[in-house]
Amino acid sequence: MADRSPDEREWVSPPESFVERANVTAADRDALREAGWPECWKRPADLLDWDRRFDAVLDEGDENDADDANDADDERTTRWFPGGRLNASYNCVDRHVEEGRGEETAVTWEGKLGETRTYSYRELAEEVNAFAAALRELGVEEDDVVTLYLPMIPELPVAMLACARIGAPHSVVFAGFSADALATRLEGADSQYLVTCDGYYRRGAALDLKRRADNACVSADHEVEQVVVNRLDDDRSVGDHYAYADLVAANEGAEVEPVSRETDDLLFFIYTSGTTGEPTLVRHTTGGYLTHVAWTSHAVLDLGPDDTHWCSADVGWITGHSYAVYGPLALGANTVLYEGTSDSPETDRVWEIIERNGVDVFYTAPTSIRAFMKWGEQHPESHDLSSLRLLGTVGEPIDATAWHWYRDHVGDGECPIVDTWWQTETGGMVLSTLPGADRMRPGAVGKSLPGIETAVVDETGHRVEEGESGQLVVTRPWPGMARSLCEGTDWGARRTRRIDGEWQYATGDNAVRDEEGYLHLLGRADDVLKVSDRRLSTTEIESAIVGVDGVAEAAVVVGDDEEALADPEIHAFVSPESNVAGDDALRERVGAAVEEAIGRVASPDVVTFAPSLPKTRSGKVVRRYLAAIANGEDLGDTSALRNPEVVGELESLLDR
Ligand code: WT7
Repeated sequence: MADRSPDEREWVSPPESFVERANVTAADRDALREAGWPECWKRPADLLDWDRRFDAVLDEGDENDADDANDADDERTTRWFPGGRLNASYNCVDRHVEEGRGEETAVTWEGKLGETRTYSYRELAEEVNAFAAALRELGVEEDDVVTLYLPMIPELPVAMLACARIGAPHSVVFAGFSADALATRLEGADSQYLVTCDGYYRRGAALDLKRRADNACVSADHEVEQVVVNRLDDDRSVGDHYAYADLVAANEGAEVEPVSRETDDLLFFIYTSGTTGEPTLVRHTTGGYLTHVAWTSHAVLDLGPDDTHWCSADVGWITGHSYAVYGPLALGANTVLYEGTSDSPETDRVWEIIERNGVDVFYTAPTSIRAFMKWGEQHPESHDLSSLRLLGTVGEPIDATAWHWYRDHVGDGECPIVDTWWQTETGGMVLSTLPGADRMRPGAVGKSLPGIETAVVDETGHRVEEGESGQLVVTRPWPGMARSLCEGTDWGARRTRRIDGEWQYATGDNAVRDEEGYLHLLGRADDVLKVSDRRLSTTEIESAIVGVDGVAEAAVVVGDDEEALADPEIHAFVSPESNVAGDDALRERVGAAVEEAIGRVASPDVVTFAPSLPKTRSGKVVRRYLAAIANGEDLGDTSALRNPEVVGELESLLDR
């Protein structure tokens, strides 16, 4: 097995100045571990205001006969905080106003064209109430699903909170998706209400969202009522719909009593990003989810009411739901929403936003960090980023090189970094260090958070030794778990099972646990390469390649010729930094680096230099397309990519 034995023995401690004022100290962490699972989830739940206090932290359901059989499905229902009642909109808005913080900023919006808009908690409360009243008038009832097809404009969180207020689960569909994708999601969620806008700006062009929405509504199998936000100020919004501004104006001053929801009533629907396979519908609950995201925003992002937080993810994805909207607002922080892209109008846009708004905590993805590296450290260094006190990453493994760059050039060599591992299905963070309590190890995410238990297991579900790779499983329920994971075990659809009586949720990611119990993520289980009977992880090879001076990004795929007697070819797609030539010298250095890090067996047989790599809209490299290019196969539909043009460029580079 190609196990990663990190010779990076490196440990980094958070600075004393951070530790002193951290929300969660080492003593708190130890007390939580001491309280044990599930009791330690009581303190997190106390971050929320409950209309009715829960009767217990967890109800695991009744055991049934199926438990006797090892991995047979069983029907037990897991319920977090049973008996409790609460409203998410009350927790994210009203209570901060009641506490006298109505004039503090809740949402800071940075528009694509350089406009800015802020909402105080009082203003947010007013608009949420008005729009909640309007939704009711349109006929939206408790448990009706409202689809939100909106770009990064403040009306998106307002609409989410308005839905939450009246107990109508929202289903946010990423604005970059096509009409077909929207239609499928309207049908899948059986949603009869759609909030969209006339259009939005993307890379200089105004995109017509309304037409896509209309096409989706025409092809959906049921009637859909539309509300349209005016973003572009042009008259393209024709057809049958209500104007958002008119509805809000007509309901100005309305007060809508927040609907008291049971803890496992649904807060929202979301589709997984579908990097592999078909997108699937995931549902999240009110009490469990909100506890989980409020707690991890407090403990991991270290947020509080005085903080300005910028999670750069689109609200169309789970990261934006949890850490741009619900988590920070539940804690009374100021959340920054940015409509544009990080290289427009200039490649220092991100640093300019951080400087101007005095951002305290910045949470972004390794793919963005690698882009920042490519553009050069002169950009962050020409801005005053001294307001930053914590940096976070999420979405894919971050290699030690990028980790250090992020800390040195963005965090002034001081800021702690939290590498947070989680998924759409987990609702909130699962693995991370606690920034005020734990040491960091560049390249490793950390341990399971207190109250979460994980293991690394082999194909049979049994634990592997420390230092060996296997699949990461979560072995006890956690509050943010998707609703389907609560509804009995199902190894097929839900990836939950019982092994020797132990409950397991299989994450689909491979990992290795080091001698300190820190987890190193090795990429998706389906990204494993099998060469010479060794299991190589794409992540492992890729991090060796990006460690080479002058390399910005890399993705590795394997040839799939089953007839081949020789080992299948390892094909690396490498994107050099902007001023670096993809030549034979660099090709040689790439080979040598992999050979040194892992061994000759892992050295790429083919290195193709590319200006960029094909990515999903959420920034994940789609290896499926690279594999098809490497194997000379038909690519099929590439429209789901953020940069479909790169595929053609790659094909022509390979002379096909
Ligand atoms: C997959 C989940 C979590 C919200 C963003 C995407 C990968 C996520 C990390 C990390 C290594 C990571 C995993 C996971 N992933 N965070 N810190 N280190 N890999 O949510 O679209 O549901 O994707 O993203 O492969 O399974 P998602």
